[in-house]
Amino acid sequence: MERVYLTTPLYYVNAEPHLGHTYTTVIADTLKRYYRSEGLEVFLLTGTDEHGDKIAQAARDNGMEPKAYADRISAIFRSTWDQCGISYDHFIRTTDAYHQGTVRQILQQIYDAGDIYFGEYGGLYCFGCERFYTEKELVGGKCPDHQKEPTFIQEKNYFFRMRKYQERLMEHIRSHPDFICPEHYRTEVLAFLREPLEDLCISRPQSRLQWGIPLPFDTDYVTYVWFDALINYVSALQFRGEEVFRVFWPKAHHLIAKDILKPHAIYWPTMLMAAGLPLYESLHVHGYWIMELGKMSKSLGNVVRPLEMKERYGMDAFRYFLLRDMVFGQDATFSLEAFITRVNADLANNLGNLVSRVLAMQQRYFAGEVQPLGADWAREDQDLRDGFARAGSEMRRHMQELHFHRALEALWAALDHANRYIVQTSPFVLFKDPAKRARVGEILHHLLEAIRAAAQLMSPFLPETAGRIRTLLNLSEEAWEEPPSWGQGLTPGHKVQPPKVLFPRVEVSADS
Ligand code: MSP
Repeated sequence: MERVYLTTPLYYVNAEPHLGHTYTTVIADTLKRYYRSEGLEVFLLTGTDEHGDKIAQAARDNGMEPKAYADRISAIFRSTWDQCGISYDHFIRTTDAYHQGTVRQILQQIYDAGDIYFGEYGGLYCFGCERFYTEKELVGGKCPDHQKEPTFIQEKNYFFRMRKYQERLMEHIRSHPDFICPEHYRTEVLAFLREPLEDLCISRPQSRLQWGIPLPFDTDYVTYVWFDALINYVSALQFRGEEVFRVFWPKAHHLIAKDILKPHAIYWPTMLMAAGLPLYESLHVHGYWIMELGKMSKSLGNVVRPLEMKERYGMDAFRYFLLRDMVFGQDATFSLEAFITRVNADLANNLGNLVSRVLAMQQRYFAGEVQPLGADWAREDQDLRDGFARAGSEMRRHMQELHFHRALEALWAALDHANRYIVQTSPFVLFKDPAKRARVGEILHHLLEAIRAAAQLMSPFLPETAGRIRTLLNLSEEAWEEPPSWGQGLTPGHKVQPPKVLFPRVEVSADS
């Protein structure tokens, strides 16, 4: 069986889940559901990154011990993903004992092989990023992420011979076009690798930081947070058993945003090389959500909280916007105005009206009972069916590129088509003529098939809505598993339910 291993970044516990975290987690969940519907076995990992300066500082700010503080925020992440219906298979914390064990084991192995050495280094250090910067990387003398001048520090530390693996890494990236995607991030990494790499400082002296994993070969030092955190992708699988690791690891697909490209595209593969492990298959890099503080968005404040969005508008509406309004790999803006416009147009009007109109007619004209399809289909019936078949194959093509927005666009084009089919065939007019009632039954049967097909195609993206449509169609979960061919999904005499509102129109008010 084909397999795929999907990972989200491990989120720092110095902040609570927001829009950005939710996006990566939602696309991971969508991909998992999508690949499963394509017959693949999928393992999805998420979790929290809990060591290092940043977390120790946040704990201090909250008057708590680092572990107690990390316990609290990590639990919030986990419960948020549970409440959002994220289908993760494992939730890892970098404070988990098994993870720390794997980190120590890998460090010792690399140290024994001679790829970790002790040395002195003086350099410009950004405490926010927890790393040294070269002059060239600074913008106007400041760290580009934190807009702060770095501090010069000189100390003895342990270094990983990253430079030794530079050539091999470049060669790998060149010969594996899918190793980093989309393409412009691959180009960016290759450009960066044109300059000689510096070795990576992988320790912090205990005198400066205690909140980390002590180095197995020198307990006066703790492990640099990135060297610790990246290893989670391996330790989580190994924890689930050698066999799980063996089958899933070579199929690893990491999902991240552009902010953490360098650690994932450079540190991580060279670490894997030094540890003698195969490299991941693909790194999928997306852009950043930028908050646009329109009038309405003010009520949301600066931070979009997933549970608040779920409570106000439903999780599927939020998922739909995230998946539909970002082009994977590019930045996108978030505003409540854009969100509401999108939800009203695509979910309340296009999808919602289609479902409620069809179910209402089915109820009114045939007491909910599905009518037979004739042997000869009209041209427009065939077109409707073909439209959904085309949407299915277009979606498959777009999903290869992680073009979620295009996949949804293709499906919504088929839904548009179904709405036009109602206008074109006018069942409400035909029904007035008793001689045409059989035709009305056929038209509604085709429309119910369209709704069934749409729900099946949307289920990785909008799982809750797909489930609600399945219930409205009175179809069992088993009947749902295998997509039936058009006309076979619903049998004459089967009863469907009266309509229910899937997505209420969001009224625009000042406190939306
Ligand atoms: N702890 C590290 C990752 C270690 S992975 C071994 C980290 N954590 S983080 O909490 O800062 O999360 C960064 C990630 O959150 C991004 O790569 C992205 O997945 C998500 N996002 C955070 N803000 C975002 C946006 N504004 N837009 C899109 N996604 C962003 O880095």
